[in-house]
Amino acid sequence: MLVSAKDMLNKARDGHYAVGQFNINNLEWTKAILQTAQELSSPVILGVSEGAGKYMCGYTTVVGMVNGMIKELNITVPVALHLDHGTYEGAKACINAGFSSVMFDGSHYPIEENIKKTTELVNACNILGLSLEAEVGAIGGEEDGVIGAGECADPAECKMIADLGVTMLAAGIGNIHGKYPANWPGLSFETLAAVKEAVGDMPLVLHGGTGIPADMIKKAISLGVAKINVNTECQLAFTAATRKYIEEGKDLQGKGFDPRKVLAPGFEAIKATVKEKMELFGSVGKA
Ligand code: 13P
Repeated sequence: MLVSAKDMLNKARDGHYAVGQFNINNLEWTKAILQTAQELSSPVILGVSEGAGKYMCGYTTVVGMVNGMIKELNITVPVALHLDHGTYEGAKACINAGFSSVMFDGSHYPIEENIKKTTELVNACNILGLSLEAEVGAIGGEEDGVIGAGECADPAECKMIADLGVTMLAAGIGNIHGKYPANWPGLSFETLAAVKEAVGDMPLVLHGGTGIPADMIKKAISLGVAKINVNTECQLAFTAATRKYIEEGKDLQGKGFDPRKVLAPGFEAIKATVKEKMELFGSVGKA
């Protein structure tokens, strides 16, 4: 059964570890992440961007697939199905489709508009027992088609949004989606500490988990980060493993062309990446 991310994140905050959000793209992705979480007895959050939702034939298809897999694979660890960087309309559609958690990304609106829309979604999520993530300070890299440098959130604005009663808050601290450029100055721990000071107990979310060095991840967790999003790293691992299979000519041997064989190395590569991250984040054995 899908659960809200609230309890798992409050436990993570209190236990000084973070729960990974891994974005899904298809059946193999979802199965790899769920099986790894179960094997490692770790809570997990499956992230679905609006684009990936469309690709997978809509939110109800995603809910059906994930619920079916949880049942058929006997997944007993806590699993949240979460909309990643949702629009207001997307968040409402996911709430109706059966997601257990949504992110409303109002970071590109003026703060008043972000507050108004977030408040409406807080009310809807509270009634249904769903968790809600809000964002302040746009995260850099390509987000909604806009490429930007990692912004640093204003702690006072973070407090305004946290006080609306959201479950978790994503605050920009110089983090970027996708690969980090060679001249990336690193996470702003000054901003993170100031945001934490302003929002108190609120579990914080670190986006752009791909390529952040392990020591920075650990420091971010020690400063209140309880959820870390990883997407690109699984994509890179999947594609490299698939390329290797084809380049080695394995698809030309015997029944190597069978899609279940072609996709197997990429599937294992996603599993290995998720395992590595769960170990780094400290969520192993915390289900
Ligand atoms: P990466 O693709 O950089 O890992 O970021 C993932 C993310 O933050 C999804 O919201």
